[in-house]
Amino acid sequence: MQRILEPEIMDGEEQALAYAQADFSRENQSFVEHFLALTPAMTTGHVLDLGCGPADIPIRLIRRRPDLCVTGVEASPPMVRLAKQAIEAAGLSDRISLVCQRFQDYTPPEPFDAIISNSLVHHVPNPLQFWYAVKRCAKPGAPVLVMDLVRPDSPEEAHAIVDRYAASESGQLRQDFYRSLLSAFTPDEIAAQLAELNLTRLLVDVIDDRHWLVMGSV
Ligand SMILES: C[S@@+](CC[C@H](N)C(=O)[O-])C[C@H]1O[C@@H](n2cnc3c(N)ncnc32)[C@H](O)[C@@H]1O
Repeated sequence: MQRILEPEIMDGEEQALAYAQADFSRENQSFVEHFLALTPAMTTGHVLDLGCGPADIPIRLIRRRPDLCVTGVEASPPMVRLAKQAIEAAGLSDRISLVCQRFQDYTPPEPFDAIISNSLVHHVPNPLQFWYAVKRCAKPGAPVLVMDLVRPDSPEEAHAIVDRYAASESGQLRQDFYRSLLSAFTPDEIAAQLAELNLTRLLVDVIDDRHWLVMGSV
């Protein structure tokens, strides 16, 4: 099945709220556990989260590694508002900061110690821009963890995945999930993107029936 691109920024109020209210606790906690395993000795430092959405992952990460700092770059103003509320409610405003900007336009004040990103790549029209941003925002040798959806072979398979994992979610969330699956990349496409940017220390793996994970260092 060919990729069908979905809109880049999730800037609808209803759309952002539906995403923030959906239950991604398993996926997000698993993402954090992968990061902790990748960086066993990293207790301090500054992590960049590209497309941080409602900031659930930065909050989970800081709860496990309280001396890290996270900067989240997120282009959707309603999503940034929801993220800010969640960070304040968690009492972590001193640890997590937000930049409301497209990552393509973001210039880091200094290179980051680690880069993370979950579920952003499928939104990006040109994914090489994403991997280029990873390269230019990271310190040499910095750990990188990126996760996203695998594009299924057919629309029928995409519908089946939505039914399997989002049966109890809102109509908006189910529609967005379906569109995201159609807009996602295959692991082979991701491997080709990494090779094109010479990111030879980043490896792609398929970790379940709907996610690929890229892990390693720049
Ligand atoms: C599916 S959400 C994932 C959010 C978060 N990473 C998580 O796992 O909960 C993707 C997010 O990326 C944001 N986004 C899309 N394109 C972007 C860009 N070019 N720069 C920054 N954020 C972007 C969207 O607005 C949306 O909030």
